Amino acid sequence: MNFKEEMKQKTEWIEEALRGFLPVETGYQKKVAEAMNYSVMAGGKRLRPMLMAESALLFGSVSQYPSEDSVKNPYVGDTFAERALSIFMAALEMIHNYSLVHDDLPAMDNDEYRRGRKTTHVVYGEGMAVLAGDSLLNYAFETAAKAFEGAQTVEEYRRIAAAMKILSVKAGIYGMVGGQCADLEAEKLGDAVTEEMLLFIHEHKTAALIQAAMMIGAVLMGASEEETAALEKCAYNIGIAFQIQDDILDVTSSLEILGKPVGSDEKNHKLTYVTMHGLEESRKQVQELSEEAIAILISFPQRNLFLEELVKQLIYREK
Ligand code: IPE
Ligand code: IPE
Ligand code: MG
Ligand code: MG
Ligand code: MG
Repeated sequence: MNFKEEMKQKTEWIEEALRGFLPVETGYQKKVAEAMNYSVMAGGKRLRPMLMAESALLFGSVSQYPSEDSVKNPYVGDTFAERALSIFMAALEMIHNYSLVHDDLPAMDNDEYRRGRKTTHVVYGEGMAVLAGDSLLNYAFETAAKAFEGAQTVEEYRRIAAAMKILSVKAGIYGMVGGQCADLEAEKLGDAVTEEMLLFIHEHKTAALIQAAMMIGAVLMGASEEETAALEKCAYNIGIAFQIQDDILDVTSSLEILGKPVGSDEKNHKLTYVTMHGLEESRKQVQELSEEAIAILISFPQRNLFLEELVKQLIYREK
């Protein structure tokens, strides 16, 4: 299998695992469940769950499979690693989707397209989109708590608790929400936004959930504190590069390719890495940060060539 095929296969496995955790569309909550599922199942790259699973593989194998000739989905299974990983992959993707539903609201970026479809508030109304975001956030933790049901040893309980702590911190006020707060504040500051503030925004609104992905993959497999800290740094680089590339594509891409509106940042008077440093310097930064991230990955005793290639490919991503 070449990288592209492997990526496609893994994305399908993630989608399949994710589907198993979605809320049922029934009762008086039917509408909000529909809006949650509309947002989560709209496609998307599934980058965060993928980074979580691939980071786990730096510390051992998740199952006997997959090998070239056996294609069992490693995220739908009964071992501790299989169960815990699929649960946290789904939980993190729910938080990511909640952040997008709220980010697109008229009160925030006011965007009408996401992943090639109308945004959640356009289809379900603003009130329901607010609730869908709220409930995706909460449901992420309801889902994550299920990992305790499959735990057997004290060590397994400890790893799940550590993963939950990372998830809550990186999603919250000292993580993604903190970054979104500064992002809104920066709209009012215009050219007065400093490089330091812009880096804070990127680190928190975007890198924090990528850090959660890679750190949780590691702690579920029993990585040491030093190893987890090294991945946190690696994910910082990937996250900043990812947001700079997102800002580049907001200028250079099209709605057809990107699946979301271009020019969103300019419309909202956002100062981005691109407006501050220009396209060429921004592209150079994406490259350098990604190379630093790969250097950290290579320093682990167990190499994961797919993960290294994934980080490389992100430099040139078009969506
Ligand atoms: C979009 O994230 C929000 C940012 C942090 C830039 P993704 O580009 O990972 O969105 P999907 O999930 O693939 O749609
Ligand atoms: C959003 O950054 C990051 C989130 C926490 C959702 P953007 O506002 O640039 O993300 P897009 O471009 O709408 O996906
Ligand atoms: Mg935004
Ligand atoms: Mg936005
Ligand atoms: Mg953007």
